[in-house]
Amino acid sequence: MKTAARRLIIAGNWKMHTDVVDGASLVAGVIERTESLALAADLVLCPPFTHLTVAATQLSGSSISLGAQNMHPAPEGAFTGEVSARMLLTSGCRYVILGHSERRTYFDETNESVNGKVRSAVSAGLTPILCVGETLEEREAGRTETVVDEQVRRGLAGTEPETADDLVLAYEPVWAIGTGRVATPDQADQVHGHLRAIVADMFDDDFAGRVRIQYGGSVKPENAGALMARPNIDGALVGGASLDASSFEGIVRAGIEGP
Ligand code: PGA
Repeated sequence: MKTAARRLIIAGNWKMHTDVVDGASLVAGVIERTESLALAADLVLCPPFTHLTVAATQLSGSSISLGAQNMHPAPEGAFTGEVSARMLLTSGCRYVILGHSERRTYFDETNESVNGKVRSAVSAGLTPILCVGETLEEREAGRTETVVDEQVRRGLAGTEPETADDLVLAYEPVWAIGTGRVATPDQADQVHGHLRAIVADMFDDDFAGRVRIQYGGSVKPENAGALMARPNIDGALVGGASLDASSFEGIVRAGIEGP
């Protein structure tokens, strides 16, 4: 049983998977399997934009929260194809994943563009899940801490979260995403400790002690317990395994009960 001061937060990042009908079945399955577990951990589902309002209706009355996978920094405007923080909030979202490595790689997001989104989300009252992480090449060159340092400092520059609950960080080593190659608990915990020290330097010790840092990258029921048992790992951002309600349940149980 995890007894840290920080409550676990486990989120499913569905990416561009499921149609609206399959998505609604998955939400129903997750509610059935994990609703009672949501007393012991914060649970978040992040389906595609098209699924949000249906999912919000399904989740209303449950303790499971809704999140989106991206947003535009502007409050509104002529930005065809984009959605704003307020659109997400009024669709029932409480969270938004920002700066995911797939967006940095395929959609040219930079620390600066991510920062605009983070600031806009926080000021609108949406909690960003800011993703950071190094590539294999960067890890092998011994640059992991430098890379995440820059991603966190530039990603969070100028943000003014009122409390540590208004921000979540996710450490997702790029080499572990969707590859089946998970970081060891030691590797992850070391980077998480470094991230917390950066947050302490940017904000203060109290804030850093409360902010939650998820691990993401090939999290499965089999490895989730050992990861989340580490002192600085406060939850998981789950891709592939969140597309199956029983795997997601297994991860949540492993986080709550331990390895
Ligand atoms: P994965 O993805 O669990 O499929 O590795 C994690 C993520 O990209 O958030």
